Amino acid sequence: MATPPYRMGSPLGARMRINGRDMDYFCGTSYYALHGNPVVIEAARAAVAAYGLGPGTLAHMPVYEEVVNLSRQFFETEAASYVVSGYVSPLVLLQALTDDYDAIYVDAASHYSIGDAIKTIDKPVIRFNHRDAGHLAEQLATHLQPGQVPAVVSDGIFPSTGALAPLAEYAAVIARYDRALICVDDSHAVGVIGDKGQGSLEYAGVAGPGRYLAGTLSKAFGGSGGIVPGSAELVERVRTKVRLVAGASPTPVPAAAAAAAGLKLIGENPGMRRTLWANVRYLRNGLRGLGLDIADTPVPIVSLRAPSDLERVRAALEARDIATRRTEARGYSDAPDVETLRLAVFSTHSTEQLDRLITALGELL
Ligand SMILES: Cc1ncc(COP(=O)(O)O)c(C=O)c1O
Repeated sequence: MATPPYRMGSPLGARMRINGRDMDYFCGTSYYALHGNPVVIEAARAAVAAYGLGPGTLAHMPVYEEVVNLSRQFFETEAASYVVSGYVSPLVLLQALTDDYDAIYVDAASHYSIGDAIKTIDKPVIRFNHRDAGHLAEQLATHLQPGQVPAVVSDGIFPSTGALAPLAEYAAVIARYDRALICVDDSHAVGVIGDKGQGSLEYAGVAGPGRYLAGTLSKAFGGSGGIVPGSAELVERVRTKVRLVAGASPTPVPAAAAAAAGLKLIGENPGMRRTLWANVRYLRNGLRGLGLDIADTPVPIVSLRAPSDLERVRAALEARDIATRRTEARGYSDAPDVETLRLAVFSTHSTEQLDRLITALGELL
């Protein structure tokens, strides 16, 4: 049975108006609740007043340049491409890099964004088992032809389960293949994990040539649009080779202005990350205290599998004014074959809210 919708009646926040009443909100991907942050909202409003809603075609406006400049600073790269959505950012990256690899080795449970991206690439695609570096090594040994360069493609953080790709293990596996690439869809990791918030590659300590991320500014950063940080050469390849970029309008102005404000806030306030990680640790510890098997990671997505009927648990939480999301079995890219309850942690959740959730789950599971 599908979960009935939560109808939002206020800007997004850790506590917000849903279905006509105030609820603790543990859904979604706005890990700092920036989509409802007054500074971000004001930046969007001011940009609309200054530039209108958008150019209606390809054009330069300072607001887009600001997103690019702030992204370069945030990711410490020479350049960055700001594209229309996070969903298309892996497509943009893989098409731009197409001359650099001969075959794609992809985690079989990657997000739809990767599934759709690789359909546009005219190269062999070999799947390896979800988060299985050993199977990746076997697939490379079996399928890679002499002289071929592989590109390993995966989500950095998987959106339903919050699992991390074992990127350091992948890097070790491909070390024996000359010029091999790793490309991650890091939509849930950028702004969130890694000391500087640069995402799952930073968190895994995987850096250097041939290591690429494509991400979104629509989740942690509170705006909208995708980002592909990298060299000036990569960005030039995006401009000249990727038809989607050359042939489509950019994000609307307020979305770009919000993204810029989010990049600035997260970039200038590393304490926001520390607060988020502390909240994640608090919830994960609390759930472990209930006897649940919970991984010890800084990922703000906690996915519960329980013997209970999780729709009953979700509905009972809703009755206590706590909004959570149940993911149906295989209802989403990496969703397991059992239903799960997905909890999203924000930096703005209070300890009291986290305690209320833990206590309720202790009673309901
Ligand atoms: C792993 C992953 N990649 C890409 C996207 C798409 O991002 P956006 O909503 O910014 O287009 C999502 C979001 O839902 C996602 O979970």
